[in-house]
Amino acid sequence: MEKKYWIVTYGCQMNVHESEKIAGILRSRGYTQGESEQEADIIVFNTCCIRENAENHAYGNIGALKKLKKSRPSLLIAVGGCMTQQAGAAEKLRKKFPFVDIVFGTHNLDTLGELLDRKAGNRKVVVDIWGKEGEIREDDYSYRTSFPNAWVNIMYGCNNFCSYCIVPYVRGRERSRAPQKILEEVDALVRGGYKEITLLGQNVNSYGNDCGGEYSFPQLLRDICRRDEKFRLRFMTSNPKDFGEELVRAIAECPQVCHLVHLPVQAGSNRILKLMNRKYTAEEYLKKVELLRKYVPDCQLTTDIMVGFPTETEEDFQATLSLVREAGFATAFTFVYSRRSGTAAAAMDGQIPEEVQKERIMRLVELVNEQTREKSVAYRGKTIEILCEDYDKKKGLYLGRDEYGRMGYFRSERDCIGDFVRLKIGETSGVSLMGELAE
Ligand code: SAH
Ligand code: SF4
Ligand code: F3S
Repeated sequence: MEKKYWIVTYGCQMNVHESEKIAGILRSRGYTQGESEQEADIIVFNTCCIRENAENHAYGNIGALKKLKKSRPSLLIAVGGCMTQQAGAAEKLRKKFPFVDIVFGTHNLDTLGELLDRKAGNRKVVVDIWGKEGEIREDDYSYRTSFPNAWVNIMYGCNNFCSYCIVPYVRGRERSRAPQKILEEVDALVRGGYKEITLLGQNVNSYGNDCGGEYSFPQLLRDICRRDEKFRLRFMTSNPKDFGEELVRAIAECPQVCHLVHLPVQAGSNRILKLMNRKYTAEEYLKKVELLRKYVPDCQLTTDIMVGFPTETEEDFQATLSLVREAGFATAFTFVYSRRSGTAAAAMDGQIPEEVQKERIMRLVELVNEQTREKSVAYRGKTIEILCEDYDKKKGLYLGRDEYGRMGYFRSERDCIGDFVRLKIGETSGVSLMGELAE
């Protein structure tokens, strides 16, 4: 009988891609993807701990498996990802959920196969979490399920220690992959028909700094774009402190690089930005936006914003609202600050009450939505190019995004997943666009 796997992923794109690596490892061990948790022989949780609710979700879903495990003791449950990498997390998992079989960390995801061997016939839980990052394993064993989109890690870890953020603690220091390896991976993807490639790193702008800094991120973009095939190139995330003219020029000059930049601002108050250890001011941020629009006039901008950071006053919050207006974001991911133990901000005085945080996030979301809607209305009647990515069975519609990340829906008689198609936009609602295929 075939063995089945089921992977549950939380968190960012980096984790989504790492779940593709986990799937690759499991497939090399003879597993195939199951239809549901119920029929799986192994369930892997790839966790996130960026905010408390991400952790709570994972704990809740792992806890819910107790019954299934009792009725089917041969079921293997493995927990990995950022959550397990925190101090004391493995112990907590063991106590709360003694039925978990394998616990592994972000630094040793590649060893999951070996951990499965160690678990075989062993009744005790196998816990292996490396305290330090190891060598980057270069074999691409990802099992990709998101054609025509593909993600490529260009670096791991983060050195920035923004005061609210857990990532540097659970992902270790910055490690860049060799340019040659990235170019080879992209080459294989493009030749394999992938049409959209997203380069991943916590701060892609510091790519190469850990290798002497001779080869930079803009150079990498240029080298990737030295090809004739039609494909889109995206990257995330760019820390504004290191976002500069060389990169802006590369965006302008490389035809495959999309004119959409994700540039997380976090806050509009300089006092808060300083406390966050972001190393730029609101004015510097807006200057960079201006520079980007000078070289790439049609460039759209998305961002991450946090409200309710310790000591944030109404005035600080107003500064965030006015920056949102001024920067003209196409859309924004908005978050309520979540206290992460071990980070500098967790120890700060002046934590903001939940009611205040909630009220602020509602006002912020309202403003962001209003701006997004306005940008959507501007699409009406226009013909745009979409990369068709998927088919929504429920809606009976194909969908895909334009260069600027806008989702468009349409009907089609033929399967066009993986094709660039032209859409004439009719209705728009919030962020999404409804269109008709245009010849
Ligand atoms: N490396 C990326 C961010 C990765 S985390 C960058 O620097 O932009 C994604 C987003 O989660 C962050 O941009 C931030 O807005 C949010 N975030 C991080 N820590 C958080 C916390 N403790 N509480 C709430 N949101 C947080
Ligand atoms: Fe976190 Fe800052 Fe690193 Fe982004 S740059 S991962 S927000 S510490
Ligand atoms: Fe990503 Fe969450 Fe880890 S946002 S890097 S999965 S803490």
